[in-house]
Amino acid sequence: MSEQSPVITLDGPGGAGKGTLAGLLSDWLGWSLLDSGALYRLVGLSALRAGLSADKAVDIEAAAALARALDVQFLAEAGAQRIELAGEDVTETIRQDEIAQAASQWAAQPVVREALLTRQRTFAGSPGLIADGRDMGTVIFPDADLKIFVTASAEERARRRYDQLSATDETANLSRIYREIVDRDTRDASREASPLKPADDAYVIDTTGDNVATSSRKVRDLVVAKGWLAD
Ligand code: DC
Repeated sequence: MSEQSPVITLDGPGGAGKGTLAGLLSDWLGWSLLDSGALYRLVGLSALRAGLSADKAVDIEAAAALARALDVQFLAEAGAQRIELAGEDVTETIRQDEIAQAASQWAAQPVVREALLTRQRTFAGSPGLIADGRDMGTVIFPDADLKIFVTASAEERARRRYDQLSATDETANLSRIYREIVDRDTRDASREASPLKPADDAYVIDTTGDNVATSSRKVRDLVVAKGWLAD
């Protein structure tokens, strides 16, 4: 992609810290962000609201049609991103675990992935793009300039999610969160369509036991080595 605007891909399982690292990269470099998981979450939300079931062929086609027609706006606001679906602020709604599970279910359907393909590629542009997801380096941007795969143990990801949820939800349950994470990993990694896996040329960063400062240093070193940032 040397003559086009540069792309950094950040792939990996949920809760590994990709979102945080993508936000930092975007701040450091001033490049735009593609949160592809949010697109799948929006499909999950829309399909839930439409009462669609991934067990019915006709519903799978309907979900692909919803994906193609998603009326979404990503709005940058005070360092955070706000997401609107047909004018409704769904930023918080799509972060619910129920929506994550629905997203993962629909994301296993090749027609749904196909429906989001072109939309994702249109995010590339000047001065550069940071693309966060599961198949950014393998399928969407195979010629990306820098590919990073961020991972962490399922136990640690469950603990992080629990710490985040239990601040506001006293019913948060660590073993249930752990089971949901393992289920989602299994579904995302074992599906035939664009499974979760590192690209052959990706740098793998394991954030287990790391704090944000340590893992962001590792990512920063890669970007400095590319000459995109002074140390
Ligand atoms: O990154 P996330 O947790 O917001 O993603 C939600 C779901 O969407 C995740 O379980 C898998 C799916 N997904 C995908 O299949 N491909 C992507 N590029 C991004 C997300």
